[in-house]
Amino acid sequence: MSKNLDTAEKPIRLAILISGNGSNMQAIVEHCQKRKQDNPAFRIEPVVVISDRAEAAGLAKAKKLNVENFYIDGGDYKTKLVGAAEKNFIDCLRRLKIDLVILAGFMRVVKSEFLQAFSGRTINIHPSLLPFFQGLDTHQRAIDSGATHVGASLHLVNEVVDGGTTVMQKSMAIGNRNAAAIKEKIHTIEHQLFRQWLDLLDRGFFSIPLKKF
Ligand code: GRF
Repeated sequence: MSKNLDTAEKPIRLAILISGNGSNMQAIVEHCQKRKQDNPAFRIEPVVVISDRAEAAGLAKAKKLNVENFYIDGGDYKTKLVGAAEKNFIDCLRRLKIDLVILAGFMRVVKSEFLQAFSGRTINIHPSLLPFFQGLDTHQRAIDSGATHVGASLHLVNEVVDGGTTVMQKSMAIGNRNAAAIKEKIHTIEHQLFRQWLDLLDRGFFSIPLKKF
């Protein structure tokens, strides 16, 4: 890893996009708040939590954590963000001068317009050891394949679903866990992964392309 001198001193404004529970969002925000308390120079600021579902439990969690949060209609398609809805998301993120977008359980695929606006600056968490088991139902597919280990991956988002460059992974042995037990354990692994990555990001170990605002 090489240190990115361009961004090493500047604050990094995060937006976290969710659709549901928001446990990863909570882990991210709590970690940043704790780090900031211990070290005022900590650079990562969770600025906003946006959900494409008004009833997402994560919105209440964000409110409790004192982070600006709201719902934006995700549009007509359940699994992708396109058209007017996509534009609303982009406009909002630009207005808030967001540097980095984290998809943390955001259940829509983001497409070209969004990716052009936040090229190299959109990160997703996926509950598998990518490139294995992209897409849904990852844990059962891992068990069925005879895999001994599973894990979670943070990756850059590109046009290929769960296909962008992996920036960090964490693995664990399956043991005799079933899919539900793996899912529960993977959630804690995801939270750990985010915490470790945020610390590295703060120290300038991941490059973020310059803003295009
Ligand atoms: C996580 O398992 C993540 O990998 C996947 O969606 C889930 C979101 O969980 N993309 P939460 O809403 O953060 O609890």
